[in-house]
Amino acid sequence: MHVLRGVSFAAERGRVYAIVGPSGCGKSTLLYQLGLLDQPDDGQVWINGGLMSVADDGRRTAARCRHVGFVFQFHFLLLEFTALENVMLPMRKLARLTPPAMEERALGLLAVVGLGDKARRAAAHLSGGEQQRVAVARALANEPTAILADEPTGNLDARNSGLVFDLLTSLARQNGQTVVLVTHNPEMAARCDDVRPMRDGQFVR
Ligand SMILES: Nc1ncnc2c1ncn2[C@@H]1O[C@H](COP(=O)(O)OP(=O)(O)OP(=O)(O)O)[C@@H](O)[C@H]1O
Ligand SMILES: [Mg+2]
Repeated sequence: MHVLRGVSFAAERGRVYAIVGPSGCGKSTLLYQLGLLDQPDDGQVWINGGLMSVADDGRRTAARCRHVGFVFQFHFLLLEFTALENVMLPMRKLARLTPPAMEERALGLLAVVGLGDKARRAAAHLSGGEQQRVAVARALANEPTAILADEPTGNLDARNSGLVFDLLTSLARQNGQTVVLVTHNPEMAARCDDVRPMRDGQFVR
């Protein structure tokens, strides 16, 4: 059984894309493919000029670490770790900054998502919406080429969803990153540069 059928999608730097469609149509599956979290049975995935669908695990992991920031639908934080440690984790993996610089950057990102005062709290002791914002900060940790966000504002009130959306949009505009977000919120989709409705594993118009 194929979940995705003939999907062709190219995300350009500087743009924000919305993928919309009913539950089960394949939105998360597509995002997993784009983020190299899953290997396609068929077809190709390119990131930053590199063909990743046939690359070995080492290259895929390295490309994911360097180029992809993923906000999961069910955010998957390490609950026993603090917010700060969760955000520093991708930086540790990439190992480009010194530990103090990692901490400074992580604290800055947490401040941007409105959690400056809760950086040292265990993720388990944060609310659902706070955890989601930590997950957004974590996705931005390594300044990824592509930010892939699966309903990043699903648990957030209007103020914080506006904050997260504006943050993602400004990264696309100012840093030339690309943002692909799955959303069930029509107002948010309407504010994206490009809306791609999906049905049954395909894009429709
Ligand atoms: N690990 C899996 N194994 C088999 N089938 C799966 C798996 N994950 C998802 N599916 C199926 O693939 C289809 C697409 O799932 P997907 O999670 O991509 O949907 P979605 O569009 O993200 O839905 P939602 O809006 O509910 O998150 C569904 O029919 C689902 O049942
Ligand atoms: Mg989904």
